[in-house]
Amino acid sequence: MVKMLWRHNHSESTVGSPPGNNGFPLIGETMMFMVAINSNKGFYDFVRIRRLRYGNCFKTNLFGETHVFVSSTESAKTILNNDLGKFTKRYIRSIGELVGDQSLLCASHQHHKFIRSRLNNLFTTASISLFITQFDELVIQTLSTWEQTDTVIVLEEALKMTFRAMCKILMSLESEHELEVLQKDVGYVVEGMLAFPLRLPWTRFHKGLQARERIMNALNKIVNERRRRRGLEDHDPEDFLHYLLIEDDKAICDGAPSLTDVQIKDNILTMIIAGQDTTASAITWMVKYLDENQEVLDKLRAEQLSIAEKTSPKSYLTLESLNDMPYASKVVKESLRMASIVPWFPRLALQDCELQGYKIKKGSNIHIDTRSIHLDPMVYSDPEKFIPSRFDEDSKPYSFLAFGTGGRTCLGMNLARAMMLVFLHRFVTNYRWQVIDSDSSIDKWALFAKLRSGCPVHVTRMTKNTTPT
Ligand code: HEM
Repeated sequence: MVKMLWRHNHSESTVGSPPGNNGFPLIGETMMFMVAINSNKGFYDFVRIRRLRYGNCFKTNLFGETHVFVSSTESAKTILNNDLGKFTKRYIRSIGELVGDQSLLCASHQHHKFIRSRLNNLFTTASISLFITQFDELVIQTLSTWEQTDTVIVLEEALKMTFRAMCKILMSLESEHELEVLQKDVGYVVEGMLAFPLRLPWTRFHKGLQARERIMNALNKIVNERRRRRGLEDHDPEDFLHYLLIEDDKAICDGAPSLTDVQIKDNILTMIIAGQDTTASAITWMVKYLDENQEVLDKLRAEQLSIAEKTSPKSYLTLESLNDMPYASKVVKESLRMASIVPWFPRLALQDCELQGYKIKKGSNIHIDTRSIHLDPMVYSDPEKFIPSRFDEDSKPYSFLAFGTGGRTCLGMNLARAMMLVFLHRFVTNYRWQVIDSDSSIDKWALFAKLRSGCPVHVTRMTKNTTPT
């Protein structure tokens, strides 16, 4: 450790390239990576083992390229600040092909700036407020079915809820059949994201690509239909697609660049994927952590019941009410820290550079290992414990990276927080639950940290009903 710290503080101590194993010629350590993905410890286990062996910065070779993993707040700052444009985001090839090269996740630096500025306009206070009402209604409906079910798999239910919520706010899609087909296809795309990019008919990657094609066809129909009907209806649906099309018309009138249909479709798919799995996983972990920490749950329930008492039982939650939930916000934050849903952030070094005292070559893939930062005892005391009150004080810079920071910060951060708070409020004020399987294994082939068990629970309603009927 002493040696490590000395290296951080003295740039002249550079010792060359990071430690690590390049594995076999051509394939490097790809097979070990795939074995980890296919195990119940999840793909993160590949990183964990090497971090223990080599320390805060190590290299490996995956899919024929060098990948460097870093896990200190100093490196996170250097990379995420990116003032000098030394780094750009880059996902592995399979992800890029599945979400599309115009997706915000994969677009080149120039395109990214433009697409992000257009999508950012959608996350206004008005649209988030509307979303909160819609999501509250959905949560209340969903929870009322839980009390009639013997065993509820929280992850499955949360995935359905977040999927529906995203499809509604993005493009007002509500038809049961269309939602079912689309959710299945999005599932295939997500499963293919970490697969070996082989286009053979039986591979996950190939199935993912086929599902992407079906999704793009469906989105094509929706976008065309919406264009055709614009102005014909009394009220165009107030969703993201509506605002995107209005913005585009304005841009065309002003002679400014507008989003192409490919950009619109790639980014609708991106937002569904980025918003559904992540938020559903976060809700599931939160239910598990609360079950394991009854004192936290009691304190949270007291806060939420006092909010419920102050508001009319007939009204839905509002942005203001969510802003007035200090303890619940810390529960959300602590759940996100512990679960590290997006466990690493991928980047590409655009120039030769230095990180943690090691030389990194231009063209190297660099990953900020946020999970290790979130669980580092030098950053958080008792990092394995669920202690929401640790956020009574401000976190150290670059120590809380659940939503990233800098130019690539999560676009849906406020939507995600809102979904988690709405769910928490309705769940803890109306129900008690018991987790049946406390296994913490991670799902195989998952890009985001998902509980393999899905978190099965028994749910019972508390006597007093605090929901609008
Ligand atoms: C708990 C839920 C969520 C978590 C933990 C999460 C986490 C993250 C993280 C860590 C990043 C940045 C990764 C990096 O810097 O490489 C990111 C980016 C992104 N997220 Fe989220 N996210 C969540 C929910 C959402 C939602 C609801 C949306 C819906 C719109 C969304 C849309 C996006 C998009 C579009 C990006 C790419 C931004 C860019 O590259 O400019 N996320 N998310």
